[in-house]
Amino acid sequence: MKHTTLGDLEVSRISLGTMGMSSFYTGAGSDDAESVRTIQRAVDLGVTLIDTAEVYGPYVNEELVARALTGRRDEVVLATKFGMVSHTTADGGTGVLDSSPANIRAAVEGSLKRLGTDHIDLYYQHRIDPNTPVEDVAGTVTELVQEGKVRYFGLSEAGPETIRRAHAVHPVAAVQSSYSLWNREVEERVLPALRELGIGFVPYSPLGHGFLTGTLRSPEQFDEGDWRRTSPRFQGENFQRNLALADEVRALADEAGATPAQVALAWLLAKGEHIVPIPGTKRVTRVEENTSADALELTVEQLAKLDSLPPAVGSDENEEARQRIER
Ligand SMILES: NC(=O)c1ccc[n+]([C@@H]2O[C@H](COP(=O)([O-])OP(=O)(O)OC[C@H]3O[C@@H](n4cnc5c(N)ncnc54)[C@H](OP(=O)(O)O)[C@@H]3O)[C@@H](O)[C@H]2O)c1
Repeated sequence: MKHTTLGDLEVSRISLGTMGMSSFYTGAGSDDAESVRTIQRAVDLGVTLIDTAEVYGPYVNEELVARALTGRRDEVVLATKFGMVSHTTADGGTGVLDSSPANIRAAVEGSLKRLGTDHIDLYYQHRIDPNTPVEDVAGTVTELVQEGKVRYFGLSEAGPETIRRAHAVHPVAAVQSSYSLWNREVEERVLPALRELGIGFVPYSPLGHGFLTGTLRSPEQFDEGDWRRTSPRFQGENFQRNLALADEVRALADEAGATPAQVALAWLLAKGEHIVPIPGTKRVTRVEENTSADALELTVEQLAKLDSLPPAVGSDENEEARQRIER
C-alpha cells in the first residue's frame, strides 16, 4: 500500500471508513464480528487510517473500532469527529451541532475512553457550528494538542473561507468532504484552496454511498431506516436516471479489468497526491477489493472518459443536511 501525507501526517493512500458498520445503512450493527474482522483485515493489508466519529451509533462505532484494534492501536492513525452530539443538552443532543469549547472538552474525554487510547491522531470538527466561531474551535483543539490528547486537527464539510480562518489559528492537516464521481462540487473552490495551503483531502462516501459499485439497482434494497431513503438522489426517477452513471462505471471497469469500486477509487487517487479516500464497508471481501484499487492505474483516456460523465441527478443530501454543508 502506498502512503501519502495529510499536512504532516503520514497515512495509507486508501483508508477505511467504519460508519456503516454501526449506523446509517442497511445491515448496520447486524454482524459486528465481521465488522471487526474487516477492520483487522484492512490493517493487515496496510491501511493505516481508520475513520470513525462519536455520532456513529452514536458512540458504539468508536467502541467497535477499539475492539478491533486491541493490541494494534499503534499500527494506525485513528481519526474521529466531534460537534454533532451536544453533551450540554439533557436528551443527549444527537445530531445537534455544538462545537462550543465546553462541548469539545466533553466529547474528547468520551472518545478517548471509548477508543481505549490516550490520544486521537486526527480530530475533526464534524460540521461547522454556526454558533461557535471556528477560531474558538481551533483554539480549543490547540489546547488539546498541547495537552497531548490530540495530534492533528481536521475539518469536515468546511468551505475555503472557514478553512483559512481555522488554519490561521492552528494548522489544519485534513479536510474531509463528500467527493466521488457523482459528487464533484469540491473541485471548484475547496480543492484549489487546500492545494494552496498544503492541507490534505479525505473524500468521504467515495463510492457514492455504494451506488457507484453498481450493486444498488433499486431503492427497495434499503431498509426503512437507511439514510439513503432521505437522499433525493436515491429516490424515484432520480434513482433510475442515475443508474446510467453506475452502468458507465461498470463498462469502464470491465475494460480496465477491475471492479466498479476500484475504478471509482482509482479516479479519486488520480486527482492529486494528498487525496486519501475512505471507502466504507463492513465486509472482509470488499475491504480486500477496495484496498487493491491502490495498484490500479487508469489510462489518460479512461480518466478523461470518467471526467466527462454527466453529474448525478438530484441532491445528495436533503435540505436540512444541505444547509449544514459549506463547499
Ligand atoms: N464527514 C462526514 O460527514 C461523513 C459522512 C459520511 C461518511 N463519512 C465517512 O466516510 C466513510 C465512507 O463513506 P460511506 O460509507 O458513506 O460511503 P461509501 O464508502 O461511498 O459507500 C459505502 C457503501 O458501499 C458499499 N460497498 C463498499 N465497498 C463495496 C464494494 N466493493 N462493492 C459493493 N458495495 C460496496 C457498502 O456496503 P457494505 O458495508 O455492506 O459493504 C456501503 O453500503 C464512512 O464510513 C465514514 O467514515 C463521513
